[in-house]
Amino acid sequence: MAKVKVGIIGAGGIAQVAHIPNFQKITGVEVAAISDPNEEKLKFVAGKFKIGSSFTDYRKILEMDDISIVSICSPNFVHKEHAVESLKSGKHVLCEKPVAMSGAEAREILETAKTTKKKFMVAFPSRFAPGAVFLKKLVDRGEFGEIYYAKASCLRRRGIPGLGGWFTTKKMSGGGPLIDIGVHILDKTYWLMGAPELVSVTGVTYQKFKDKAFDGGWPPVETRVGDKYTQPLDVEDLSSAFIKFSNGASLFLEASWAGNSEGGTSLSLFGTKKGAKDDGASLKIYDEVNGVLLDNTPVLPGADTYFEEIKHFVSCVLEDKEPVTKPNEILNVIRIIESIYLSADTGKEIRLE
Ligand SMILES: NC(=O)c1ccc[n+]([C@@H]2O[C@H](COP(=O)([O-])OP(=O)(O)OC[C@H]3O[C@@H](n4cnc5c(N)ncnc54)[C@H](O)[C@@H]3O)[C@@H](O)[C@H]2O)c1
Repeated sequence: MAKVKVGIIGAGGIAQVAHIPNFQKITGVEVAAISDPNEEKLKFVAGKFKIGSSFTDYRKILEMDDISIVSICSPNFVHKEHAVESLKSGKHVLCEKPVAMSGAEAREILETAKTTKKKFMVAFPSRFAPGAVFLKKLVDRGEFGEIYYAKASCLRRRGIPGLGGWFTTKKMSGGGPLIDIGVHILDKTYWLMGAPELVSVTGVTYQKFKDKAFDGGWPPVETRVGDKYTQPLDVEDLSSAFIKFSNGASLFLEASWAGNSEGGTSLSLFGTKKGAKDDGASLKIYDEVNGVLLDNTPVLPGADTYFEEIKHFVSCVLEDKEPVTKPNEILNVIRIIESIYLSADTGKEIRLE
């Protein structure tokens, strides 16, 4: 059988740590081409992973007829262009989070995926964590009853990525921890809540570590070949928000790259029949049986969530299945983020009906 050939756009941290090695682990899949405007890094990565074709212009990948999947690992501000052009050239697209910089950009991508009839998925590895998969099954079977409230939190005490590079420059990243790491826990929680329609968003952002910021170690130093980190930091270091949905449910969300608090990632679901707290490493289900309150701690297997995510996307392409990230979820997650920033800037609640 002919190999499934993959092209990678962007040869940085996530490409080197997650995308290239995991595509290469799948039998019958070949990473055939890579692009990055940073020539030094491009050469280094192509050599390290033995990738046959490498280009500074990503369009050269799109001209390769034998490539069927494009994996977008570039900075956020170019996701829309890379996704739309890749879809238009007939490729299936796995795109790193956040999908794009705004709801309008996301809509353009999703419409292009629809008209070209190509698969489009956003890379959210936390959906593939065993705890999340288990929870989703319980929720879908109605075991939580009505989920009317949730909390989602992703807090780093000290962990600003790529200080002085695109991550900390608003016009390239779209923002700080909210759009970078908050997007993961927001996506997972919103998905588990059943992706209800949006009503309103109120948000605040803070920037308190600008003068004492230091580089938090992502992208891994060994992946940064030829990168320059010389730009000013102009994004928040903490964001907090309250989101209301049309079914009456609400969500409290917080994300930080730096702050004097407990660190960690967790979500809580409050249902009329059951509740849950999932901090990634452990999961607790809060139940009531015959009037007695019961705490259940499922014993979950370990999993390589990046590998599961990439394997899932390849199987969607090969078996013509719909990827786990649905268009309305992809769109509403970025609309929530965009509205939190707008609310923080204007001091107003943003209506989204
Ligand atoms: N899913 C996750 O857990 C996860 C983790 C980290 C990063 N990410 C996402 O992955 C993407 C890349 O992040 P990273 O950490 O690898 O950053 P990075 O800075 O290490 O890599 C980005 C690469 O893109 C290249 N690039 C810049 N402009 C480009 C262009 N126009 N065309 C092609 N390449 C271009 C850069 O030269 C760099 O090599 C971001 O969207 C980020 O949010 C996801």
